[in-house]
Amino acid sequence: MSLQDEIIKIESSFNSDFDLLVSGKLKLEDIKYKYLGRKGFISNLYSLLSNVDNTEKPLLGKKINQLKINISNKIDSLVKADSISDNNINSFDFTLPGKKYNSGSIHPLTLIIDEIKNIFNKIGFSSIYGEEVETDYYNFESLNIPKHHPARDMQDTFYVSDEVLLRTHTSSSQVHFMEENNPPIRIISPGRVYRNEDISVRSYCLFHQIEGLYVDKKVTFSDLKGTLDYFAKQFFGPKTKTRFRPSYFPFTEPSAEMDVYWGLETESDHRITKGTGWLEILGCGMVNPEVFKAVDYDVEKWSGYAFGLGIERIAMLKYGIDDIRLLYEGDVNFLRQFK
Ligand code: DAH
Repeated sequence: MSLQDEIIKIESSFNSDFDLLVSGKLKLEDIKYKYLGRKGFISNLYSLLSNVDNTEKPLLGKKINQLKINISNKIDSLVKADSISDNNINSFDFTLPGKKYNSGSIHPLTLIIDEIKNIFNKIGFSSIYGEEVETDYYNFESLNIPKHHPARDMQDTFYVSDEVLLRTHTSSSQVHFMEENNPPIRIISPGRVYRNEDISVRSYCLFHQIEGLYVDKKVTFSDLKGTLDYFAKQFFGPKTKTRFRPSYFPFTEPSAEMDVYWGLETESDHRITKGTGWLEILGCGMVNPEVFKAVDYDVEKWSGYAFGLGIERIAMLKYGIDDIRLLYEGDVNFLRQFK
């Protein structure tokens, strides 16, 4: 049989095999292997080509090429049509409503932090961020809390080693900032802090604080009161009343706590203010000269105030959240309310 006849024979054999393939009587892999495989019919035709007369080679070569292209195209078109039907495009119901993708919401703690940051940024405080893993020196020693100081007992600390710990307050970022910058200073420093406390409705092993620090010449306690009262009015509303009670913190002298008047109208007002109507929201005071000494500031020249406020407390008040753990569970039903 001449090569020309051979080509025609393979072509018609493929055509009938292709019909079998379409009707499902032959498998795709088998037909591919039979015609296009390494030892398949097409490759056989190419090897026969070497025996024909040189004058015939170009024409017959072209015919084999063409046959090969036709066979692959036909097989490919079937594969494509098949995969389309596999995806059920043909039975796709265009009237079905689309899938809804839920957008997230900003976490209530982030909302509060952003709001407080905005209030202070507007009056010239910039935001800085400290490290959560600290040394004993920055968390305690430099803040005038030496070893065995009773103030350490108030803050149950997670120790990583003797000298390394998870910071118990954001006050440590004050010291870092003062070491690296000269006065005047106006900063707030929000972040996470850790305490080894039993987890309950009111306390969690981690929470958030915002630290504030102001250092300049001739800073007075009335500067401190004015700024924090301004903050309270911006945050809780223009009629908010504040009061300052004397307190004790090793890193400030004198120290105070600021309360805002919450009211005593409802049963829950009584409960959360313990019957006084007042709520403590932050600790503050004039920077203790001992802290300035630790960062080599001239205590004759510089003075300042500092404050630290707990975010969870404020978030719970603002949003009426009665269990602190809700803030950490990531329950979408809870979080969705803050969209
Ligand atoms: N670091 C204190 C705490 O965690 C809060 C605090 C009180 C910060 C007074 C201050 C301050 O900067 O002046 O309880």
